Amino acid sequence: MIHSPRRRRRVWSAVAAVATAGLAATTALVMSSGTAQAAETLGASAAESGRYFGAAVVPNLLNDGTYSSALDGDFNSVVAENAMKWDATEPNPGQFNFSGGDQIVDYAQARGMEVRGHTLVWHAQQPGWVQNLTGNDLRQAMLGHIDGVAGHWAGDIESWDVVNEAFEWDGSRRQSNLQQQLGDGWIEEAFRAARDADPNAKLCYNDFSTDGLNPKSDGIYDMVADFKARGVPIDCVGFQSHLGSNSDLSTYQANLQRFADLGVDVEITELDVGGSGGAQANVYRQVTEACMAVSRCTGITTWGITDAHSWRGDETPLLFDGNYQKKDAYYAVLDALNDGDSEPPPGDGGHV
Ligand code: G3I
Repeated sequence: MIHSPRRRRRVWSAVAAVATAGLAATTALVMSSGTAQAAETLGASAAESGRYFGAAVVPNLLNDGTYSSALDGDFNSVVAENAMKWDATEPNPGQFNFSGGDQIVDYAQARGMEVRGHTLVWHAQQPGWVQNLTGNDLRQAMLGHIDGVAGHWAGDIESWDVVNEAFEWDGSRRQSNLQQQLGDGWIEEAFRAARDADPNAKLCYNDFSTDGLNPKSDGIYDMVADFKARGVPIDCVGFQSHLGSNSDLSTYQANLQRFADLGVDVEITELDVGGSGGAQANVYRQVTEACMAVSRCTGITTWGITDAHSWRGDETPLLFDGNYQKKDAYYAVLDALNDGDSEPPPGDGGHV
């Protein structure tokens, strides 16, 4: 489904993000001999093909000048790492706390960045009061939560992870409280409620270990095909992509493409790659190239900015090290976004 207001916003926000990214990004728009120059930031490079490049962020760190400089310099999309989850936004029944999420949305809007929403319904990070609910009480809590949260940010969110991590590795449904109490229909109910609450947001299903053709991605594929066939509102699938330097990505692009062929957008939603140096950079490059090769792959989000704040900090999985220095992986991504056209970093072997 195409939501024209959102698509207009995307064009505007891409332009605005480039405008706020300073001189380096401006350079990206300079035309020479009729040919676009390789852009010099991740966000500007992604924007050249109509994509976004985002990062998961933490509200408190937005006040840290080093953190915000890195964010502003390279990213044109953000997602809350934790601040929009159920435990953060509805700690008590019907009592909402939007402060952390509002901080992120305000920050993003002031800079023309897009905002992804993460996540409306998940088996983890549920507040205590939800964990003990049964039957219709849990259903009403879920629907009320979606209405309250997606309704609060209606019009502000580019795409919502409506449901997160509801499948097992073998393609069966995860036996969460939601599944056990509400039965197979709960995911569909959640998507319908999200569409009602925010008709302009794209609605995504989001999961991990879906990095190729495998039983888990098969199960999700079947659900999305069924939703599309029956008119259940779903617009996108998020591929978290928590990877390692040895990850087998031989069917990664084919997997993205088969979902795109169902008529949904695909997004790389939580990318990080344990490792270092060329091996890590090579995995980042492959993921970026796969997204660039699939026209319905609308963007990439890394799950944080620097290794210093990553949930996998010991594995140094991000594009910036703990001192905010750009890693080999950064230059591999930039190069892939520019289709192999970006300038190498000065005096550096950053390209792999
Ligand atoms: O907010 C409390 C704080 O008050 C307390 O002092 C502190 C003490 O440990 O804990 C804080 O909560 C932590 C929260 O992160 C915020 O820092 C939780 O314990 C901790 O469990 C939580 O971890 C998050 C995790 O999701 C929860 O499952 C990670 O930051 C976050 O990166 C991670 O993100 C998930 C995605 O949402 C879904 N996909 C997988 C991804 C990685 O696990």
